Amino acid sequence: MTDDIKKGLAGVVVDHTAISKVNPETNSLLYRGYPVQELAATQPFEAVAHLLWHGELPTDEELAAFRAAERQHRALTPEVRAVIDLLPLEAHPMDEVRTAVSVIGAGDTAGASALKAVGTPEENLERSKRLFAMQPAIVAYGQRRRRGQELIEPRDDLDYAANFLWMTFGEEAHPTVVDAFNRSMILYGEHSFNASTFTARVITSTLSDLYSAVVGAIGALKGPLHGGANEAVLDIFDEIGEASNVVPWLERALAEKRKIMGFGHRVYKRGDSRVPTMQAALESLAEHYDRPDVLELYRTLEREFVERKGIYPNLDYPSGPAYSLMGFDTLTFTPLFIAARITGWTAHVMEQQASNALIRPLAAYNGPDERHIEGYVPTEAEL
Ligand code: CMC
Repeated sequence: MTDDIKKGLAGVVVDHTAISKVNPETNSLLYRGYPVQELAATQPFEAVAHLLWHGELPTDEELAAFRAAERQHRALTPEVRAVIDLLPLEAHPMDEVRTAVSVIGAGDTAGASALKAVGTPEENLERSKRLFAMQPAIVAYGQRRRRGQELIEPRDDLDYAANFLWMTFGEEAHPTVVDAFNRSMILYGEHSFNASTFTARVITSTLSDLYSAVVGAIGALKGPLHGGANEAVLDIFDEIGEASNVVPWLERALAEKRKIMGFGHRVYKRGDSRVPTMQAALESLAEHYDRPDVLELYRTLEREFVERKGIYPNLDYPSGPAYSLMGFDTLTFTPLFIAARITGWTAHVMEQQASNALIRPLAAYNGPDERHIEGYVPTEAEL
């Protein structure tokens, strides 16, 4: 049995999914059959959320109806705001969002009894849409609060991406910035059985509720080997400073056996199909903000690392500097990932609920052999 162990579940296929397809041979990613880069180039994030949940892109009428409903739930509720305000300013933003989702779940009293907690498919779709609509306010308020700025109310005349940027920065974003942000949301939206999605499915498989699954997924996403990598890319950029420092920095980092964040992937071994689309968005942003230095550092580190290790960038590599150019604090990057991935997570929760089997793997025990408490006399029933 020990020989069969697949550490990290590497290479193990645990279930079917119709939501997305990761193809390691072509390094490609399809959402419900559509290449993700085509969706990012042509669709608003709201349409992709609809696609992930329903299986098809929305008609014009469906999109309009979804957008109208989304606007109803954009404002931070007093309960969520009150709880966020209780948290120390030094709390990690991921803990802030995790707590906010927990508060929203506890406030949904339809899930109060364990038996009702799972909910009907219709209820869970509604919950998913509400959570999706509420994320921008939570993430934007988090960043503003840490900067000592006031909450900004949502704007009904702006679509999801433009409103998100409005609520964060209090000014209307340039179309180049809105487009880059919208693309990033779509590219981060879904990624098959990654660690956080699998966590959500494990929690769902016990017949727990959708909020608990999302809270658990946020916990899994927080780690730097998963969602935290886009933050870590910026930390690396800050450490390096400028392109001319890349080579000595990299030589030292590799000698110290450091992992270079934003590179490598468990599944894509020859490049990540999401990178070119996000890199194009980063290039437009660098031009818009007149920051060629950021691109130079980006390109130099990529070239030197790939040359030495043959390990390619993943989506976090271009998205980290892109979010930084837009004005997001480094600590806000992973919460932005939550706002995007909440679509994929909730789609997976509903798929798991629709054909559930408790996820309960086995382990090969390698602890001490059986032993006994000195002087303990077993009862007759135990013998
Ligand atoms: N920097 C330096 N060396 C690396 C890196 C890296 N970024 N990635 C892999 N390697 C080396 C690793 O040290 C190991 O070398 P050796 O065989 O000599 O020990 C070899 O490549 C295989 O690495 P691994 O960690 O066993 O590969 P994995 O498939 O388990 O890991 C990974 C994938 C993403 C955890 C890893 O590449 C990594 O830690 N990357 C940096 C963190 C990062 O960018 N994470 C975001 C991933 S994308 C998130 C998502 O899509 O959800």
